[in-house]
Amino acid sequence: MRFDILTLFPSLVLPYFEDSILKRAVTKKKIAVNVHNIRDYSKDKHKKVDDTPYGGGSGMVMACQPLFDAIKAVKRKNKGPVIYLSPAGKRLNQEKVEKLAKLKGMILLCGRYEGIDQRVIDELVDEEISIGDYVLTGGELGALVIMDTVSRLIPGVLGAEESPEEESFSASLDRMLEYPHYTKPEVYKEKNVPAVLLSGDHAEIKKWRLAHCKKPSP
Ligand SMILES: C[S@@+](CC[C@H](N)C(=O)[O-])C[C@H]1O[C@@H](n2cnc3c(N)ncnc32)[C@H](O)[C@@H]1O
Repeated sequence: MRFDILTLFPSLVLPYFEDSILKRAVTKKKIAVNVHNIRDYSKDKHKKVDDTPYGGGSGMVMACQPLFDAIKAVKRKNKGPVIYLSPAGKRLNQEKVEKLAKLKGMILLCGRYEGIDQRVIDELVDEEISIGDYVLTGGELGALVIMDTVSRLIPGVLGAEESPEEESFSASLDRMLEYPHYTKPEVYKEKNVPAVLLSGDHAEIKKWRLAHCKKPSP
């Protein structure tokens, strides 16, 4: 999976891939992460990337030229969809993540300020995705959420002991929330681990676990 991220703040994105599972995914070449600074594409002599909104109002809008040039350059190397992180997008869920994980690549466009000029969306964006009904300062957290959730579904990214198959929202749990987990010790502050989990009876454990899956909040 090839991720290309277009952002004004590459340093917010890169550290996430310098540790843990996603670092391993990069090292094992299961994912490739290419971060592009939109400012590098500005033709303005001061490398300006934004301007005041037509119609008035506060804030700045990310302008067409740097975004058109950046997206077009990246599209030559990545044939996946251009996804703009936006509160106006369709809300991300696990089913969407599963679909995205089947792609060979995607381009993630991170807005800042008041957002981006609508003409960029109309001309070059394939889809808009929101990560929730709230407003972020920028799209970088959204891009990281997509890359994290998608990467862990790519075969070989998680180790066998971390399998994504029986997890919250997975089809094998009927899209329910995963059952509770316990680890050693058996008793902690007078609170016991449920006896069935210590029984070694796998059929009973499975039954208990399924019975303890909860419905996700609507
Ligand atoms: C401050 S926000 C712009 C908010 C915009 N003026 C509005 O009212 O909808 C700046 C950028 O953060 C990103 N963003 C904000 N909220 C988001 C969300 N819920 N999901 C995904 N991206 C979001 C978008 O890329 C957006 O262009």
